[in-house]
Amino acid sequence: MAVKLKSEDELRVMREAGQIVGQTLARIREMVRPGLNLLEVEQFVRDEFRRRGAKETFLNYQPSSKYPPYPSNICISINDELVHGIPCDRELAEGDIVSFDLGATYKGYVGDAAITVGVGEISPIASRLIDVTEAALGAGIEAARAGHYLNDICGAIEDAITPSGFSIVRQYVGHGVGRDMHEEPQVPNYRMRFRGTPLRPGLVLALEPMVTAGGPETYEGADGWTVKTKDGSLCCHFEHTIAIREGREPEVLTLP
Ligand code: MF3
Ligand code: CO
Repeated sequence: MAVKLKSEDELRVMREAGQIVGQTLARIREMVRPGLNLLEVEQFVRDEFRRRGAKETFLNYQPSSKYPPYPSNICISINDELVHGIPCDRELAEGDIVSFDLGATYKGYVGDAAITVGVGEISPIASRLIDVTEAALGAGIEAARAGHYLNDICGAIEDAITPSGFSIVRQYVGHGVGRDMHEEPQVPNYRMRFRGTPLRPGLVLALEPMVTAGGPETYEGADGWTVKTKDGSLCCHFEHTIAIREGREPEVLTLP
C-alpha cells in the first residue's frame, strides 16, 4: 500500500482532529494528581468527544483477530507499562509516571498523540526519562521537512536518545495517519538501513518515541493489550501527529 498525501482541504480537517486530541490531552494533564481514578479520565474523554462531535478511534480497534477489540477511548499506561494500558478502577499515586495516548476521528480523519506526565514529586531518573523522550520527539519533528527522507526523522530520534543511556523500544513504531489510524509508512524510532520514503508536502505522520530506563524488551500482558517492559523498568511515550509542509517547518497538528 502506498503513502497517501493529503490535500489542503484534508489538512484543514486533520488540523481540527488534531486539536481535539491535543486540547483534550492538555486538559488531562491538568487533571493529573495523586488519587485521580483512571475511569474518570475515560469518562472525561467520552464527554469531550460528544461535546466536540468527534468519533471514537481506539474503541473496538482490533489490529488482528489475535487481539480482543480495544475496550476504551484512551490508553493509560503507568510506570513499567509502556503503551495500550486499559483504563480501570485504579488511582494514580504520588511518584508514578503515566502516559496518556489518545486518538480521535473527526469528519473521517484521525488525530493521534500521547504525553507522559509525572504524578506529584517524581524521581530524578523518571524526570530525565520524560525529558529525553519529549526531546527525541522534538528532534524527529525538527527533521520532518520536505526534501528530507523518512530515515532523517528516524535517525534524529535515535540520536536524541542514545547519549542518555536509555533504551529505544524497537517493537512499536510510528506511522502514517489519515482516514485510518495506521497508514503507510511505518516510522521506526531508530535509523534504518535505507533512506526510506521521501518526505513530501501533505505527508502526515504520527511520530512516537518509546524509551525505557532499562532494557528495550517488552511483552503483552494477560489482558491482551497492556504492553510492559520485561525487566520492570520505567518507560515513557510521547507522540504527535505532524504534517510535512512545502518550504517550511512541519505543522504539529496535535499541538494545542
Ligand atoms: N495510539 C496507538 C498508536 O499510536 C494505538 C492505540 S491502540 C488502540 O498506534 F487499541 F488503543 F487503539
Ligand atoms: Co500512534
